Amino acid sequence: MSEAIGYERVGDIAILAANNPPVNALGHDVRNGLVDGIARAEADGAKAVLIYGEGKTYFAGADIREFGKPPTQPFLPDVCTRIEASPLIVVSALHGTALGGGLEIALGSHFRIAVPTARVGLPEVLIGVMPGAGGTQRLPRLVGVDVAVDVITSGRQIGAKEALAMGVLDRVVEGTPREIGLAYAQELLDSGAERRAISEMPAPEAVDFDALYNMVLQKGRGQIAPALAVRGVQACCELPFEEGMKRERELFMELMASDQRQGMIHAFFSERAVGKLPELKGVAPRNLNAVGVIGGGTMGAGIATAALLSGLSVVMLEMTAEAAEAARGRIESNLGGALKRGKLSQAQFEDLTTKALTLATDYAALGDVDLVIEAVFEDMGVKKQVFTQLDAVCKPGAILASNTSYLDINEIAACTKRPADVIGLHFFSPAHVMKLLEVVVADKTAADVVATGFALGNRLKKTSVRAGVCDGFIGNRILSTYRTCADHMILDGATPYQIDKALTDFGFAMGPYAVADLAGLDIGWAVRKRKRAEGVDPRARDFTYADKLCEDGHFGQKTGTGYYVYQAGKRAGVPNPDVMPLIEADRAAQGLTPRDFSDDEIVRRYMAAMVNEAAKVVGEGIARRPLDVDVTLLYGYGFPRYRGGPLKWADMVGLPGLLSDMQDWAKEDGYFWQPAPLLEELVAEGRTFDDLNKETA
Ligand code: NAI
Repeated sequence: MSEAIGYERVGDIAILAANNPPVNALGHDVRNGLVDGIARAEADGAKAVLIYGEGKTYFAGADIREFGKPPTQPFLPDVCTRIEASPLIVVSALHGTALGGGLEIALGSHFRIAVPTARVGLPEVLIGVMPGAGGTQRLPRLVGVDVAVDVITSGRQIGAKEALAMGVLDRVVEGTPREIGLAYAQELLDSGAERRAISEMPAPEAVDFDALYNMVLQKGRGQIAPALAVRGVQACCELPFEEGMKRERELFMELMASDQRQGMIHAFFSERAVGKLPELKGVAPRNLNAVGVIGGGTMGAGIATAALLSGLSVVMLEMTAEAAEAARGRIESNLGGALKRGKLSQAQFEDLTTKALTLATDYAALGDVDLVIEAVFEDMGVKKQVFTQLDAVCKPGAILASNTSYLDINEIAACTKRPADVIGLHFFSPAHVMKLLEVVVADKTAADVVATGFALGNRLKKTSVRAGVCDGFIGNRILSTYRTCADHMILDGATPYQIDKALTDFGFAMGPYAVADLAGLDIGWAVRKRKRAEGVDPRARDFTYADKLCEDGHFGQKTGTGYYVYQAGKRAGVPNPDVMPLIEADRAAQGLTPRDFSDDEIVRRYMAAMVNEAAKVVGEGIARRPLDVDVTLLYGYGFPRYRGGPLKWADMVGLPGLLSDMQDWAKEDGYFWQPAPLLEELVAEGRTFDDLNKETA
């Protein structure tokens, strides 16, 4: 027997207790131990078998250390089949999480009991595959097609109560898994219960699987794993169990070999790697109890909401008492969402909005806070005034952070006497919802201040990425380049609507022009004005239609019209008829004859622009590693997760081809299409961005 599975007899019951810390992952030793344990119980004259996990959980899932390696025997589907085939009564007792292969082992058992805090689920689609050990064959037999498709295609975790109602669990009881499992197994023996193999249950009626497949594919914006999982459920309905298992395996293998699987695995590991920075090893973050937020507009209110929800107390400073009350209103409305969804009780809501939140108009109120986040207007003059005042009132050791989208944190830091305590904390809108936080490290920022930025990110349940100082940091800098590329395509003949469609078909949550409408077209307008004032390189192509749209009052969703016209109650807009004439006027003024763009060319150019700027961002050290860029785009910019991020995508389509396309396009516009030195270097050396990730791991 392997040590990962302990064996013990209690009366007629053989106990197989998993002991593979930390999460009883289903690695090779555990699988082996289960097969041996069942055989031993049978040879030992036991009448029932209880399977449970020691420590904090049942089998939480597959062993991530075995990801990407060739599988070794016994394979998980065979382990489940072996357990199910036993003539003894097999009971699994669940606590903690039983996910993926963990739930499949439980489904191979004849009865399932769990503690009330247990959670189950089949999250394989979240890493680009589907259940591969009978999940798509057993679950529908147990709970029907609709519930099984929901569980498998969403990958969501399900609490014990809901799992009981669905029929995934037979019973939910307080206690330790060992106690409740033994009592249940004994009760089954005493009542003469028969073993109950799910594979022997009748298959559910088939439904219109083609329609279901298409719906799931569309909902996943092109992600194939959930859609192929639907085909697995179809096999359950239409084929005998064994053939269904074979079909499940084929579908699983197809996904294993797919680019989407590679993309999802890259995303999975990158989001774990992103917070691991060598410079922070052994550096303790500063204490955080109370934070100040300056400016309670869209961003400040969102940041304050996130901070309150994480248990921090917040001092919100605004310019006037009215503005402060308006900020309170925005915070209450954000928290109201949490109240409605049952994430907060009424009493907690009241505590947060009265006790934990203080409104102020006087900087003296910030004397005791540990960290201040400034979210005032995007104007260097205003920011400098704010930081000068903060420097005067904040206690020594307090961290002074700016939420600026583009401005120079070094310049902001320089107006204080404590530049080592100054940092950028760039949140995304809405700040209490969006997962990304860019931790912007300026030249003089102290290491423990950076560590505190990451600690705050963790506390607010954000994914934090380290960025260096430049115009727009990682995300907005890359965004402005690919947006410019899209604008060029419009001048040359594409329409905003064709571009948005090509990119949502590629898998983006929204196209760039729909995003611009959502963020407010005045934001881009202000950036263009600032850049023109700073002096634009005469080689850069320019245009006026976007400014004219703003001059005519089309600011996007907030004014009801932008690139699209928004009707009350509808989220998606229809093309604004004022837009194309403005674009055509620009083309005519520049003497441009519009040409056709295929969707493929749109995607290729847009992505190449994104990859090229990203390579510059990595090459200049603004992002530490390619994976930092990938995570930024995945979490802040709606990049399709199944493509792994722009630099993973670039590796998969091939860097030499991308570079050679850029060199071709540079013949028309050599200013815009200047290849990043890092990209040229990687191509010359036959390396990939992922090679760089590995070197800096
Ligand atoms: P906003 O205009 O909604 O809010 C700014 C707030 O700051 C207003 O309530 C104003 O009364 C207050 N304020 C201005 N000067 C002040 C001062 N001296 N003292 C105290 N309060 C003052 O602006 P928004 O969108 O919230 O942006 C704030 C900052 O966040 C900007 O730097 C912006 O670039 C950045 N940001 C904005 C994002 C967005 O999507 N809107 C995303 C990420 C960052």
